[in-house]
Amino acid sequence: MPHIKAKPFLDSAIDELIKKEEFCKFRAIPKRGAIELLGVEYKGNSFLLEIKKAKDSTIIRADKVSRPLNVEIIKEVLKKIAKEANLTIINSNLNQKLAKANLANRFEKQIEDFEGINFSDKRVALEVGFGSGRHLLYRAKNNPNTLFIGVEIHTPSIRQLLRQIELNSLENIWVVNYDARLLLEMLPSNSLEKIFIHFPVPWDKKPHRRVISDSFLNEAIRVLAPDGELELRTDSDNYYKYSLEVFSRPKRVSFKVEKNRDLEVISKYEARWRQMGKDIYTLTLISQEKSEDKNLIGDFKFNIDIDESKVSNLPKEAIVKDDYFIHFGKEYRFSDSSGGIIECSFGSFERPEHKYLIYKDNTSLYYYPQRPVATSSNLKAHKAIEELLNV
Ligand SMILES: C[S@@+](CC[C@H](N)C(=O)[O-])C[C@H]1O[C@@H](n2cnc3c(N)ncnc32)[C@H](O)[C@@H]1O
Repeated sequence: MPHIKAKPFLDSAIDELIKKEEFCKFRAIPKRGAIELLGVEYKGNSFLLEIKKAKDSTIIRADKVSRPLNVEIIKEVLKKIAKEANLTIINSNLNQKLAKANLANRFEKQIEDFEGINFSDKRVALEVGFGSGRHLLYRAKNNPNTLFIGVEIHTPSIRQLLRQIELNSLENIWVVNYDARLLLEMLPSNSLEKIFIHFPVPWDKKPHRRVISDSFLNEAIRVLAPDGELELRTDSDNYYKYSLEVFSRPKRVSFKVEKNRDLEVISKYEARWRQMGKDIYTLTLISQEKSEDKNLIGDFKFNIDIDESKVSNLPKEAIVKDDYFIHFGKEYRFSDSSGGIIECSFGSFERPEHKYLIYKDNTSLYYYPQRPVATSSNLKAHKAIEELLNV
């Protein structure tokens, strides 16, 4: 990540930049520890820089929670600060070339892109945990009029699929690096023709990590169009029996079970299990009715007055509920005493949100650098944070 190491400089060098009211907005001093934060707004990006002071040098770099995806933005800002605050640089990596993996790819979607999405008349299918991507690529090549969304938690698989999309000149795949259980919550009702889940991890010892569950299946039924299908393939006897039970609970659906059904394309895992002579089960669930619309969009706004005492009284221990958690971290005060910042993590256990809460002038309180993604666990956590601050 881009950084500069400079000879120690006076706080006033940064305060002068803030006074100019251009790209440096505030300086925040930690209640404990030595790393200050500098709020930046530059070319439409809001983020924080860390200022780490030591005896012989000061390091300035982007903070992990808020840093923009585009590393060039961080480099430009660091160069501007070095020049305008007249810093003496000991060393920096600002002139090193960008790694290709950092470049934005138009086929990679962020979870935020799915908020309030409308696929209008598009035919859409989803593959959960695509692994090597062999099945997804095959389907996309053979169904050019369907948009295939692939969701994976394993980042190297994401990169591999993005390369394959380009090599095969495909235009009908979106790739999302997120937990499928949360993505599903955000998709519109009745929007998918197919959901493929091939060889999910059986998680026999940690069943709460399984993709298939009652709540997942209910969401799947909601997002499937009438006659839409969810296709689960597994080589695990245990997972098969478990899924059979889960699949038999919902109403308004039918399902069928097949043993050792051949597909036109064999995934990497399937090839391995076949070679070992294992049985492969296919469970296909068919949605039968139209589902109601779901409105998850919350504004994540706070309707409360806020002051430093309320922030200082927040619990230091994590709050853990069945379907969400909240943990407050480091606290900072603005150098001009107009408010402060508190680090906080919350939401689902699988994909926690890491944000800052900024309070200013006793009246405004908001998430930084932007509001959380509108998943049900984030909305529940937000409500609980508001209650904690509204005492
Ligand atoms: C056993 S592999 C199967 C891969 C591929 N479907 C195949 O048949 O070769 C399971 C895949 O699911 C992914 N996975 C596990 N849990 C997931 C989740 N909650 N959301 C998205 N992907 C997940 C894993 O990273 C892994 O790549």
